[in-house]
Amino acid sequence: MIKLRKKQFGQFFTPPRIAGIAVKLISKKDDEHIVAADPGFGEGALSYALISRFSNARIDAYEIDELLVKQNFLEKNIQLINQDYFLEFNKNKYDVIICNPPYNRFQNYENINQISIIEQNLNIEVSKLSSSYVIFIYKAIHELKDEGEAIFIVPIEFFNTKYGIDLKSILYHDRMLHSVVLFNTDWSHFADAITTTCIIKITKRPNKTISIYRDFNNEIEMIKQLDYSEIQPEKKWSHVFSSDGEQHFSNQAPLYKYAKVSRGIATGANNYFILSPSQVSDLKLNHNSVRKCVVKSVDIVNPILDIDCFNDLELKGKSCYIFTGQESNDQATIKYIKMGVELGIDKTFLNSRRKPWYKLEKDVAYPILLSVFDRSNIKVVYNKVGVLNLTTFHGLSVNSMYSKYIKIIFLFLLTKSSNSMFKKSKRIYGNGLNKLEPNDYNETNVLDFEILDLQDLSKLNELFSKLEKDNLYSSDIINEAESVFLNYLT
Ligand SMILES: C[S@@+](CC[C@H](N)C(=O)[O-])C[C@H]1O[C@@H](n2cnc3c(N)ncnc32)[C@H](O)[C@@H]1O
Repeated sequence: MIKLRKKQFGQFFTPPRIAGIAVKLISKKDDEHIVAADPGFGEGALSYALISRFSNARIDAYEIDELLVKQNFLEKNIQLINQDYFLEFNKNKYDVIICNPPYNRFQNYENINQISIIEQNLNIEVSKLSSSYVIFIYKAIHELKDEGEAIFIVPIEFFNTKYGIDLKSILYHDRMLHSVVLFNTDWSHFADAITTTCIIKITKRPNKTISIYRDFNNEIEMIKQLDYSEIQPEKKWSHVFSSDGEQHFSNQAPLYKYAKVSRGIATGANNYFILSPSQVSDLKLNHNSVRKCVVKSVDIVNPILDIDCFNDLELKGKSCYIFTGQESNDQATIKYIKMGVELGIDKTFLNSRRKPWYKLEKDVAYPILLSVFDRSNIKVVYNKVGVLNLTTFHGLSVNSMYSKYIKIIFLFLLTKSSNSMFKKSKRIYGNGLNKLEPNDYNETNVLDFEILDLQDLSKLNELFSKLEKDNLYSSDIINEAESVFLNYLT
């Protein structure tokens, strides 16, 4: 029930810290008797932050959900109106409008009428694909006095979407966009809302430049001032605003929604457990006592580890088997275990804690392998032959309810976009070396794969089949797959 209301009304509440930042952006004097509006009051985070700075403010707060209105304890300077914000239009009434609007798409939203109400009242045309926050902004601009200011918390996708272009044109031509506060993209401000948000300040007076701020350790700092000539309404804005050219993406979900990344096998004594094909054959080890294994990252040069690639490793005499000791009735295996004891392998730190000492800590063949260290891009390997992996790679297993996405996830991980997402999670080592621990992967936001439509899913599966033949990290097929993903990410 609560979840339903959340979805229906787009109820994600602003944490006090973010509300505080939003209020700080207002350039009125603290003791001014400002007339303000808070459309979509929720639990009042923004109104309460506003009156804590402007004690003389008078606020019209609109909230459509009567349950929330009943719950709320009110301050005398807040008039809480239990009504749809789109029922009446108050042209040029407010000095300040502060708002965290709902972000529902109109396709999924009952109140599609809002678009026609806005179109009739403001004599404009609005794309039916718009999200509701766009309509809230149109109305707020209409209701601001000259010199008035509107502070909105909006998804960063606003700067890049097609449906936002008309509104961006107005902000651009009237130079109304005053500033933007960007947040760390890995941090979702609202519980359950997998949307990267930012704060924008709109003024009903022209601005010479746009100030871009970033939130650093609880303080906002200006990172640049942009000239209006640096943007165009029909182009994407997010990479122009961001400090490091880093792209902002939409439709993201943490990787752990779909998969779990775990570290590889630590043997405790690689020179005993790891064997080359000739060692396996010299020792006459039964095939059940060894498993195929990836030992070094440099050994893997193709994205899909198929039987041809594995045979190639064998031909080159690479160490690509791990001793499991499983066939303990086999004479050669018994002999090799004995040899391990003679060498004192059973007494080493890790092995002395295992029973029997030569038992591998796990024997899971992960379908996708991911590099631990890299110098630029992560290395991603599709494990078609079921090899085990040492700790040079992490293993990714896909959550059972999402197993149909396994090839799609693999293709996605190969793209530049995924690399720019993981870049933010990397631990930087000296010498240009970067490291990703399993949880650094798990907690990074990636594409929310469920959003892919059936046509694109089948196109991506076809591209996977083509890549199986091509099998190169430099393949154009990866770029083709990326262009499908980018339709959802930007
Ligand atoms: C994203 S929440 C923000 C709540 C609050 N302002 C905050 O920052 O925590 C949006 C709120 O707008 C309300 N809402 C949605 N559509 C509305 C409408 N047409 N008129 C008034 N309120 C609306 C929702 O019920 C929800 O409480």
